[in-house]
Amino acid sequence: MAQAIMLRDHGGPEVLRLEAVAVGRPGPGELRLRQTAIGVNFHDCYVRSGLYRTLPLPGVPGIEAVGVVEETGIGVTGFAPGDRVAYVTGGYGAYASERLLPARLALKLPAGMPDLLAATVLLKGLTAEMLLRQVHRVEPGQTLLVHAAAGGVGRLLCQWAVQLGATVIGTAGSAAKAELARAAGCHHVIQYREEDFVARVMAITDRRGVDVAYDSVGKETFDGSLECLAWRGHLVNFGQASGAIPPFQIARLAARSNSLSRPIVFHYIAERPALEAMSAALFAMLASGAVRAEAGQPLPLRDAAHAHHLLETRQAEAPLVLLPQDTDA
Ligand SMILES: NC(=O)c1ccc[n+]([C@@H]2O[C@H](COP(=O)([O-])OP(=O)(O)OC[C@H]3O[C@@H](n4cnc5c(N)ncnc54)[C@H](OP(=O)(O)O)[C@@H]3O)[C@@H](O)[C@H]2O)c1
Repeated sequence: MAQAIMLRDHGGPEVLRLEAVAVGRPGPGELRLRQTAIGVNFHDCYVRSGLYRTLPLPGVPGIEAVGVVEETGIGVTGFAPGDRVAYVTGGYGAYASERLLPARLALKLPAGMPDLLAATVLLKGLTAEMLLRQVHRVEPGQTLLVHAAAGGVGRLLCQWAVQLGATVIGTAGSAAKAELARAAGCHHVIQYREEDFVARVMAITDRRGVDVAYDSVGKETFDGSLECLAWRGHLVNFGQASGAIPPFQIARLAARSNSLSRPIVFHYIAERPALEAMSAALFAMLASGAVRAEAGQPLPLRDAAHAHHLLETRQAEAPLVLLPQDTDA
């Protein structure tokens, strides 16, 4: 039997419990994977709490992992037992020691990329690529506001934005996180739990505002992010770590001809050519050293609840990765 975290009811981290599950043989077009490292994302907390109702219960949460192909189903081409692969899926099921996966979602890992690192960066890095090169095409000389700049997505986003020639203003929730944001290349860092980030952004930009605000914090920062925009500036809300954003009057965008986007990475990687192009761009940035990433903090799969607690209480100072092989039967 394999081991999986089964979500039976929405609630706090304590609802995440390890169970034995049967995996079975791969069907047509599927791979059977023995998973080695599972990425933990804030999305997993929304699914667990019930803020997002996208996983039918009971169900196994988790949207990315790395593993080794153990068996291929009929019709699978391009993969063989022993291949190391990574994937991102909106279909869930990643919090498990073994699983079946549609082969069209799997990406072969570059030889030099350790499993732990790949599980740390794949979804977060694809999100950064989507935000900087597709949702808003960042140009040299533009000024960006990035909330939660020391977070998993935030650190990759800031480093990549600097490479694109942007001036980056990051926000962070503590002095230690402010240091991490600076190390990720932020030209200015605002400790937004203590300082008025709108006033600081306006002072830094000589009252012009920013060209784009990347806001994944949601409820607590949305209005302020809108106030920080320059004329024709773009607010990209891509998460809601502080809670859901109340209904919004579109007419508010007219004050400075602003635009608003609410992208979801699953929709940008749905077509295989897009997934391959975006992951190739990410792997190239990592291989060149232009974007640096360290392997995340490993925790046993059975400690998924602790991982969620660390993330939700803002205590995680590195991305978290769950390891199935440390998990007792
Ligand atoms: N739209 C998409 O396709 C997509 C894809 C991936 C991720 N995301 C979003 O991107 C964000 C970052 O994801 P991640 O997995 O890398 O997580 P993360 O940034 O490592 O963690 C979330 C951060 O949000 C900040 N935060 C602000 N207010 C908070 C609150 N009330 N409670 C908890 N955290 C709060 C914290 O940083 P400070 O302590 O520094 O404030 C926390 O570390 C999430 O909102 C996620 O949903 C969206």
